[in-house]
Amino acid sequence: MIPKNFIHDLLNRLDIVDIIERYVPLKKSGANYVACCPFHNEKSPSFTVSQSKQFYHCFGCGAHGTAIGFVMEHGGLGFVDAVEELARNAGVTVPSEVPMQEQAQEYKFTPDLYEIMLSAKRYYRDQLKLSSPAIDYLKRRGLSGEVALRFGIGYAPGGWQNLGSVFANYQDNSLLKTGLVIENEDGKRYDRFRDRIMFPIVNMRSQVIGFGGRVLDSGDPKYLNSPETTLFEKGRELYGLFQALKAIRTRRMVLVVEGYMDVVALAQHGIEYAVATLGTATTPYHVQKMLRLSDKVMFCFDGDAAGQRAAWRAMENALPKLVDGKHIGFLFLPSRHDPDSFVREHGALAFEQLLNEALPLSSYVLRELSAKVDLHTQEGRTALLQHAKPLVTVISAPTTALLLRKEIATLAGITQAELEALYAIKPIGASTRRAPPKAARPVTSNLRVLLRCLLFQPDLAREVPESGIAVGSEEAATITALSEWARTQEGAISSAAMIQNFQGTVHESLLAAEQAEILQWGETFDVVAEFQDVLTRLRNEQRKQQLQALHVKMHGTGVRGLDEQERLLYLQLLQRSELK
Ligand code: UTP
Ligand code: MN
Repeated sequence: MIPKNFIHDLLNRLDIVDIIERYVPLKKSGANYVACCPFHNEKSPSFTVSQSKQFYHCFGCGAHGTAIGFVMEHGGLGFVDAVEELARNAGVTVPSEVPMQEQAQEYKFTPDLYEIMLSAKRYYRDQLKLSSPAIDYLKRRGLSGEVALRFGIGYAPGGWQNLGSVFANYQDNSLLKTGLVIENEDGKRYDRFRDRIMFPIVNMRSQVIGFGGRVLDSGDPKYLNSPETTLFEKGRELYGLFQALKAIRTRRMVLVVEGYMDVVALAQHGIEYAVATLGTATTPYHVQKMLRLSDKVMFCFDGDAAGQRAAWRAMENALPKLVDGKHIGFLFLPSRHDPDSFVREHGALAFEQLLNEALPLSSYVLRELSAKVDLHTQEGRTALLQHAKPLVTVISAPTTALLLRKEIATLAGITQAELEALYAIKPIGASTRRAPPKAARPVTSNLRVLLRCLLFQPDLAREVPESGIAVGSEEAATITALSEWARTQEGAISSAAMIQNFQGTVHESLLAAEQAEILQWGETFDVVAEFQDVLTRLRNEQRKQQLQALHVKMHGTGVRGLDEQERLLYLQLLQRSELK
């Protein structure tokens, strides 16, 4: 837990323009800065950064957020990692909200584990230089010293307690916690990795968090991996991602393969945007992480049955994370090939050729579904609909979902509406036709304008009258949330702090829409006057509504329509209202 105050101080200390400029060249345009959006493909700039308000907004793809959000999106980092990175840049340390005692422990222990992993990596690297069988093995697999260095490849020699020569205290429990050392039932400790080629696994900040160790020739298991530890969570990490980041940006694509050696061999052949899952299925988290880094994620699985199963699992886990406009594809190699053997036999050009011919996710789904059943029979079409249901219902990207529903309905010989009724899911597309035609959009509602004022100058949120906002709308709920929050804050509140605080809440999308609007308000905009105006308009609106309600009551129920209290209110309203 990072204290909220720290987040706000950090956002105040930073300049979002500096942060973004490191990755994206910004051009001044009026009060703001603009660039071509780093999150989607475009030719004219719709990515806008407000220096005074410290947020960014893309009018093309809707990406939005503060400096923290930018570092998360652009670097594919989690919240904590992004805050840590920004704090490092600002030269401050992230405090922790855990109690003092635990805090001391936490601080002492986490960096130590990283230190231990780094020392181990260096040791394995040095040992590789001393082992000719290990060097020969890597050479036989076609690797250059340069690529071995890029991936920090090393060698763990045979023997049970080699790490005893690296660490002063082999009995230190930290060694156990890293997974480098194992304790048997008798309490005797020994090295996990012995006589293996070592592949360090690093996180996005290039810290070593685990290892994969391969036997030199045959032996079981072929690969031994670090266990899950406080540093290493397999479902969240991808082998080779750190090394691939640059190529992923320039090639606008991530390639996912199955093995360590596939990543390394592809890099050896100049295909540097490949990553591998770590002996686990591709998780939804993996997919989300990759889709944040690029618009295109290509899965390349081995040509064997295991590869087919891995592809299916990857597809299932990708469905909930699909984003319209982003592309997911599947590439199947000829059987008996994996990316490593393929690229070594046929070269990078042939491999990239295959990539161009990869199956889009939806085609892959349709192909697999229809291969399982006989579509000429009613039983087959029923089975198709059953198999497709869990896949179709989990997609939330509207266009992708719509197209897939249409295709599956067609294959099964029913209509899209019938499919939606059958699956009991909300109709997409056609349903909008049934909605009453939209009236010409009224001028921006007063509540929206009020929201803009609060985003422009968050201190004003403390001055929203507590009973001044009629409840019931999304805007009202957000305004109430903003002002309640602002009342708990001390001192001046920045726009960025406000935006950051509501990131990931139900209020986020409404706020994002209004952020876009205030980009057009100049620096000298008289927000206080606008704020007071809009409050007056809202008060009048409210009176008018009350008046109308009273009117209805008066005329609807005859002479005795209003009781004494209501009559008084009616008179008061009539006197005060300018809208008689
Ligand atoms: P493969 O068996 O396909 O190996 O496992 P590979 O990558 O082609 O390895 P080489 O070419 O023989 O060296 C794919 C991945 O599955 C995990 C590893 O992450 C491996 O890279 N795996 C495999 C294990 O974790 N343990 C094993 O025993 C085997
Ligand atoms: Mn292989």
